[in-house]
Amino acid sequence: MPSICQVSTFLALAGLAAAAPRKQGKPTLHKREALPEYAITYAPLSYLYSGEKWWPSDITVHLANVEPEVNYTATGANDSVTLDTLDSLASDVYLTASDGPILDPSKSTPAWLASDYGIPDSDGLSAAPGLIIAAEKNSTTTDVFYFYFYSYNYGGEVLDIHFDDHVGDWEHVMIRFVDEEPYAIYCSQHSAGSAYYWDVVDFSGDRPLTYIAYGGHANYVTAGTQDYTIALGIVSDTTDAGYLWDMTLNYRGYWYDVDTEEFSIAGGAGTGATEEGTETADWLSWLGYWGDEEYPDGLLNDIETGQYCIVGECHYTSGPTGPVDKNLGRTTVCQKEDNCTIFDSIDDLTHQS
Ligand SMILES: *[C@@H]1O[C@H](CO)[C@@H](O)[C@H](O)[C@H]1NC(C)=O
Ligand SMILES: *[C@@H]1O[C@H](CO)[C@@H](O)[C@H](O)[C@H]1NC(C)=O
Ligand SMILES: *[C@@H]1O[C@H](CO)[C@@H](O)[C@H](O)[C@H]1NC(C)=O
Ligand SMILES: *[C@@H]1O[C@H](CO)[C@@H](O)[C@H](O)[C@H]1NC(C)=O
Repeated sequence: MPSICQVSTFLALAGLAAAAPRKQGKPTLHKREALPEYAITYAPLSYLYSGEKWWPSDITVHLANVEPEVNYTATGANDSVTLDTLDSLASDVYLTASDGPILDPSKSTPAWLASDYGIPDSDGLSAAPGLIIAAEKNSTTTDVFYFYFYSYNYGGEVLDIHFDDHVGDWEHVMIRFVDEEPYAIYCSQHSAGSAYYWDVVDFSGDRPLTYIAYGGHANYVTAGTQDYTIALGIVSDTTDAGYLWDMTLNYRGYWYDVDTEEFSIAGGAGTGATEEGTETADWLSWLGYWGDEEYPDGLLNDIETGQYCIVGECHYTSGPTGPVDKNLGRTTVCQKEDNCTIFDSIDDLTHQS
C-alpha cells in the first residue's frame, strides 16, 4: 500500500495537470471531399474475441453517461456533455462515470459500460459507429486511421492480480497508403503497437484481418495468445475470430489537416453518417480524457473505489485521451516514432513503438 506521502505527491501532480492552460477555440473547417475510396476498399476486417464482455460503444451514448470532473470534482459549469459541447471543456477535464466509482465490474456492470448494443450482427455491423480519419502527409502519402471506441477497458491479470481497468478506451489501426496503394499497417497495443508491411498480413479479399484482444482491445494481425510485458510480469492478450466487426458499415469519417491540426467532416456510413450529418468535427480537437481520473490509492479511498497499486501498476488507471492525441501527423507508421520497425513477417510480434 502506498504511503500518505506518495498519495500527496499524486494529488500534487494531479493539481499541476489541472493548472494546465486552456487551449484556444478553433474555427470549424468547411466540409471537405469524401474519404478516398481506398480507405474503404482496404479497411481492416476486425474480429472481437468470442468471449468479449466490453463491446464497441457509441461515443454519444458514452457522453450521456459521464460528467466533466477536474480533480475528482464536478466542474459545475455543466453536468451534461455532448459532442457539440465537448470542445468547450478544458483539457484537464476527465469525463467521469455519472453512476459513481466503478466498483468491480464483474459484480455489477452498468449497461452503458458493457455496451451490449455494440455487439456486431452476423454481417459485422455494430450499432456503435467506428471512426475513420484520413491524414494526407504529402502528394504521395496518406495515412488512414481506423479508430475503435469502447466505454470500458477491462485490463489484464498477472498472478491473479487484476489491473489497468479504465473508463473509455480508444484504440486504432492505421494503414499507410503510398500512391493510393496500401503500404503498411500499424496496430495499437496498449501504450505501444506493431507495424507490418502490407503484403505479409492475412486478408479476406482485399481487406486485412485484425484481431481485437479480450477486455483491453489491443489490435493484432494474428489470432491466439499474445504475451505482453509490464512491470508486474507477463500479461497475455487473447484473440480469436469471435465476432466480425466491419467498421465500414457504420462510421463517422473525417479528414485531419496535418498543417493546421484541424478536422473536417468527410461523411460516413450507417448511423455514424446520420449522426455526423448534424454535427461538426470540433469535438475531435478536445484534448481531455474520456474516462475517470485514476482513483487515489490508499487512505479510505480504496474502500470506496477498489483501487490498489503494486509496483506502479494500478487496478484503476485514468481514461485515455482521444484520437487527436495519437500522433496523427506521424512521419513513421508507428505512434511512437523512434525505433519504428516495420516487420516483414506476422510471426514477429515484438511490441516496440
Ligand atoms: C483537489 O481536491 C482536494 C480535495 O478536495 C483538495 O485538497 C486539493 O486542493 C485539490 N487540488 C487542486 C489543485 O485543486
Ligand atoms: C451547458 O450545455 C448546454 C448544452 O448541453 C449549452 O446549451 C449551455 O450553453 C451550456 N452552459 C454552459 C454554462 O456552458
Ligand atoms: C511523404 O511523407 C512520408 C511520411 O512522412 C515520407 O516517408 C515520404 O518520404 C514523403 N514523400 C515525399 C515525396 O515527400
Ligand atoms: C528497437 O527495437 C528493437 C526491436 O523491437 C529492439 O530490439 C531494440 O532494443 C530497440 N532499441 C531501442 C533503442 O529501443
